[in-house]
Amino acid sequence: MAKLKINGEIREIDAPDDMPLLWALRDVLGLTGTKFGCGIAQCGACTVHLDGEAVRSCVLPIGSIGDRDVTTIEAIGETAAGRKIQKAWLDLEVVQCGYCQSGQIMSATALLVTTPHPDDAHIDAAMAGNICRCGTYGRIRAAIKQARRSGDEKTAARLESRLDSLLERQAAARRPADDEQPAPKTTNIRPREKLAELREQEELDSIRPPLDGRQVMDHLGVKPGRVVGEALDFLLEARLDEGPISEEEAYARLDAWARERGIA
Ligand code: FES
Ligand code: FES
Repeated sequence: MAKLKINGEIREIDAPDDMPLLWALRDVLGLTGTKFGCGIAQCGACTVHLDGEAVRSCVLPIGSIGDRDVTTIEAIGETAAGRKIQKAWLDLEVVQCGYCQSGQIMSATALLVTTPHPDDAHIDAAMAGNICRCGTYGRIRAAIKQARRSGDEKTAARLESRLDSLLERQAAARRPADDEQPAPKTTNIRPREKLAELREQEELDSIRPPLDGRQVMDHLGVKPGRVVGEALDFLLEARLDEGPISEEEAYARLDAWARERGIA
């Protein structure tokens, strides 16, 4: 009798220890979302997660699992990454006959958890063991990219709002007062087109402030809150305007920014 934690519940399975997990899931527990394809770890149809890692359940004896968490396709939508992947799968109508797709979704979700911004090479490596006889590979790749991008919506919204305010400041700097000559160009603000171009090139998701929130808090000795958000916006703006900035330079700018605001 094996006791396994499956989809968050302890399940007792009356079966020999060498029974592959796939058989236990389908034939003993009735969890038939996980599919049998080849039975020799070659097709990926039977993929489940073991402590979050994608594994082939057709060659995994239940006696070897111990107290590790098993997650199957039936519960993957309860995780943030699983929800994003499933939504992208539906949005892009990835599925054809569907037989391979629970395995594809399990592998794609595991990828997104370990690598939130996978590039083509990451996707190829993670999905190489999942075979689709219907040839949905192109849509699978596109859906993983869509799921990846959806995590950047917040960043994109923040960038757009920064650009709005930057463009307003730029316009104000260029607007001459009634009795003055036009002001010289003193700003170096990238226009909205630059953001569109970055998005087009799918580079947006790789643009981050040169320091993260934890580094800002540690350096300034502040708690989470408005100051950290403003500092990150300031650093993000510099990154967007000027391209990559070294950590040393970022700290120097952060010091100057904090001094101007009287922040210790
Ligand atoms: S059924 Fe497990 S890899 Fe094919
Ligand atoms: S959708 Fe048919 S085998 Fe993949």
